[in-house]
Amino acid sequence: MSQDLEKVLFTSDQIQARIDEVASQIDADYEGREILLVGVLNGAVMVMSDLQRAMRSHVEMDWMAVSSYGAGTQSSGVVRILKDLNADLEGRDVIVVEDIIDTGLTLSYLMSNLASRGPASLEIMTMFRKPDAAQMEVPVKYVGFEIPNEFVVGYGLDYAGRYRNLRDVGTLAKHVYS
Ligand code: PRP
Repeated sequence: MSQDLEKVLFTSDQIQARIDEVASQIDADYEGREILLVGVLNGAVMVMSDLQRAMRSHVEMDWMAVSSYGAGTQSSGVVRILKDLNADLEGRDVIVVEDIIDTGLTLSYLMSNLASRGPASLEIMTMFRKPDAAQMEVPVKYVGFEIPNEFVVGYGLDYAGRYRNLRDVGTLAKHVYS
């Protein structure tokens, strides 16, 4: 599987080191409070798993599954909730955990939806962020790495459902998709 990568952008060690830094920052920012981490399936599975184990605070997790309407690989900004949260967000300190923000459309929708449920606070942690996400109106408090506008796989990021389980993150070799 790793032979299908053209270029490694981040090794597993680099990702884990950055996760540790972000986890420490969150621990410090939320000292004495209990956070509810909300993961967005499926891509956020890896970062959710590593982030919470790197944290020293008490933490709970919950999951949402969403589907973006629209053809092909472009987000349309219209999001359908396929699986909603089990938890009530009223009064909770919530951090939404994502693998990647590309256009920002998915999170723009999700944040206004979640904000309407009365959380005490609502922030975002994403492992990767692409340049287009800068247009997003919602501020992102925790970013693992800024990445170029390239199609990347690994660490939860897929191509046609594959490569999520790669430990490194990189670009795919052309022979894979041509
Ligand atoms: C990816 C990613 C984000 C979204 C980001 O999910 O996990 O949820 O796209 O794109 P945007 O910023 O342009 O809206 P995807 O729909 O590919 O599903 P997946 O998590 O199951 O891979």
